[in-house]
Amino acid sequence: MDVKGKSAVITGGASGIGRATAELLARKGASVVIADLVEAQGVETVKAIESAGGRAVFIKADVTDEDDARRMLELAVNRFGSLDILYNNAGIAVGLPGYPLAEIKRWRRVIDIDLQAVILGCHLAAPMMDPKGGVIVNTASMAGLYPYKEDPVYGAAKAGVVNFTYSLAPWASKRNIRVNCVCPGVVDTPLVRRGIEAAKRAGHTAGIPAKILQPIQIAEAVLRLIEDDNLFGRAIEVRPTGARLVEVPAAPGSRKTS
Ligand SMILES: NC(=O)c1ccc[n+]([C@@H]2O[C@H](COP(=O)([O-])OP(=O)(O)OC[C@H]3O[C@@H](n4cnc5c(N)ncnc54)[C@H](O)[C@@H]3O)[C@@H](O)[C@H]2O)c1
Repeated sequence: MDVKGKSAVITGGASGIGRATAELLARKGASVVIADLVEAQGVETVKAIESAGGRAVFIKADVTDEDDARRMLELAVNRFGSLDILYNNAGIAVGLPGYPLAEIKRWRRVIDIDLQAVILGCHLAAPMMDPKGGVIVNTASMAGLYPYKEDPVYGAAKAGVVNFTYSLAPWASKRNIRVNCVCPGVVDTPLVRRGIEAAKRAGHTAGIPAKILQPIQIAEAVLRLIEDDNLFGRAIEVRPTGARLVEVPAAPGSRKTS
């Protein structure tokens, strides 16, 4: 899909990876709905896009809330004429103290935002997408591809996003929608900076990587997933050394899809 002239909704678009992706898509000529809980940064992102000549609008929305999620998708249609791209990106980590010491409501919120809201977003977006073809990208994580002892609930939510993406792809592609996900390594964003500061305060410095990615590197991988019409039901892993498509495991008795 050529993003020029298309309309995209980006959740968590006020910060980090979401913001970098919003700015990249807008530079490429897409109109962007930025949906986020944080209004000040969302409005600032819209201003930055508009002053660079792009089109964007902010909506305050909690991706776990059905009405909010519906409103953010409808805004793309009402303001820009169609819903072509949904980037389900909003996310949080459990943080310290980790599971099982964390409060139950904290890790439930992680599952709600990082996994359930992705499922909800796909459910609501599919019938609204332009019948000529739509693209959904979900933000998973390398934590969803490998064991992640630092934050098992986060890892489980992200593994859920990866499997949901693989499993939903045949249904979606019958409706002319391509669903893919991106699995970043550690990226220099406020979410990670908060985590690193908390880990240092708690004396847990062993897991802090020496090399970390910049948000634009993830935005470029997301753009690749949107632009390449041959990709559906795929995960792309992004490390500081480069990006690679993950081989999709075949279920017993089924044919491999990659
Ligand atoms: N930074 C990393 O190293 C890294 C690595 C792998 C995956 N990820 C994933 O990338 C995504 C973006 O993370 P980031 O690092 O850019 O973090 P970030 O904190 O910079 O941005 C996340 C944004 O999501 C928003 N958000 C959180 N909960 C929300 C909700 N309920 N409704 C709407 N918006 C909400 C926040 O307000 C924030 O603006 C997340 O899904 C995260 O799990 C990040």
